[in-house]
Amino acid sequence: MIQTVETIAFDDQKPGTSGLRKKVRVFAQPHYAQNFIQSVFDSLSDFAGKTLVIGGDGRYFNRDVIQVAIRMAAANGFGAVLVGRGGILSTPAASHMIRLHHAYGGLILSASHNPGGPDEDFGIKYNIGNGGPAPEAITDAIFARTKTIDRYLTMDTPDVDLDRDGDTRVGTMRVRIVDPVTDYADLMETLFDFGAIRAMIASGTRLSFDAMHAVTGPYATEILECRLGAAPGTVVNGTPLPDFGGHHPDPNLVHAHELHARMMAPDAPDFGAASDGDGDRNLIIGRDIFVTPSDSLALLAANAHLAPAYAKGLAGIARSMPTSQAADRVAAALGIPAYETPTGWKFFGTLLDAGLVTLCGEESAGTGSDHVREKDGLWAVLLWLNILAVRGQSVADIVHDHWARHGRNYYARHDYEGVPTAGADALMAALRARLVTLPGTTVEGLTVATADDFAYTDPTDGSVSRNQGIRILFDGGSRIVFRLSGTGTEGATLRVYLERYEPADGTLDHAVADALAPLIAAAEALAGITAHTGRTEPDVIT
Ligand code: G1P
Ligand code: ZN
Repeated sequence: MIQTVETIAFDDQKPGTSGLRKKVRVFAQPHYAQNFIQSVFDSLSDFAGKTLVIGGDGRYFNRDVIQVAIRMAAANGFGAVLVGRGGILSTPAASHMIRLHHAYGGLILSASHNPGGPDEDFGIKYNIGNGGPAPEAITDAIFARTKTIDRYLTMDTPDVDLDRDGDTRVGTMRVRIVDPVTDYADLMETLFDFGAIRAMIASGTRLSFDAMHAVTGPYATEILECRLGAAPGTVVNGTPLPDFGGHHPDPNLVHAHELHARMMAPDAPDFGAASDGDGDRNLIIGRDIFVTPSDSLALLAANAHLAPAYAKGLAGIARSMPTSQAADRVAAALGIPAYETPTGWKFFGTLLDAGLVTLCGEESAGTGSDHVREKDGLWAVLLWLNILAVRGQSVADIVHDHWARHGRNYYARHDYEGVPTAGADALMAALRARLVTLPGTTVEGLTVATADDFAYTDPTDGSVSRNQGIRILFDGGSRIVFRLSGTGTEGATLRVYLERYEPADGTLDHAVADALAPLIAAAEALAGITAHTGRTEPDVIT
């Protein structure tokens, strides 16, 4: 029986950079998740009888909300749901499943790299039929609906057994529990030369993959250890846990420090990588060398033709605005277009659908291609392995060759987490107010060339997104970008992105902190970070 449940709107359900993210205790309030899911359904049309994909990263509360979503999908008239066994689907696997089954869309339950557990974070995002995150027009409609919603639809049915493959029914809707890994692993085999990678591993190349007790454990074990023959134990922290073992499943040098230490040790493996809570991010570390995500995007673009899927070349490359401009140099060298989009994967979807770009990336450890409509951590790992197998060189040699050819974009992001919202807003407002007067002025020896608040016009549909971060560009190509995070769940997080370009004939082996020192000083002078946030140091440098 379909039930109509009366509810009262919540005023804090605005989707951020990647869906709605809140503390579990916020999501656990009566009707909270239901209101949001109903608002998603109320913002869509013509889905009666169609298929919805449902899965999540396995974090605390995942199974509860999956049961809620199944009942609500049935009550709202979906014809079928595809659910990853155990409620598990990595974000890229969910994107693939939507595309493979021509589903209407999908609900992905994840707070990505944020910690999990009863006192930590949860999230829900809606992906459209192309497999990608809902564009702003839809997330705006969802938010508008959350403000007026007064009822949701559900059913009074028992929980579905999420751990047994096969079909059941909730009302008239079919519920199919599916293996979360196989289709995705099969897709990877179509993109890359698994034979060449297997041969490289068989001849002694050693890998280490840190799944951070998050969703990629089963995927990496199947692909790296079972299909590619890497030694058992290659995948560490491979069992997904609801609280990620108490850690942040964020693949950066702070939270994946064990992997970093392993890769810097005398007996280090040849290639190290990690992924995040929901499997869409990647961290790449060679023996003795960390590859910044921005450099990784540029390197993958420059070498992608070595993998079967990209042998014909790339249509174009897209990067989010704060991502370093290293990929632009590759695009120029290849004679293909480069696109600069706002932060968040949702802005790449239209470019990929239109065939304008093949590879996309963000400085926040996200890289992907047109094989799905999400960033994809294991995909990046496999493309790297394919490149290593063909080139027969170490990660360090490949990186140094790249800099020697294209120059080096020294890069770092400084995060000031959980700062008072008022201070962060004031900092941004003060910067915004000075934008027109900055060009031509000199700060810490750097002359401002241009300064603006980034706005983006999508070339495929003309939609405009404003206030996407403040850019200050200096003579000579250096840059500072200031923006506030749209994924945090406590206070505000200020992100300061620092970039300095060094041409190929310049000094390519500075320590990053030294190379960026004048920019770090300029960021403080321009924005008054300490005065506005009370912080003298960033919490995280990536
Ligand atoms: C962060 C990253 C952004 C990424 C998003 C989702 O968003 O900066 O690149 O797309 O997470 O993974 P932010 O917190 O900066 O809004
Ligand atoms: Zn993620």
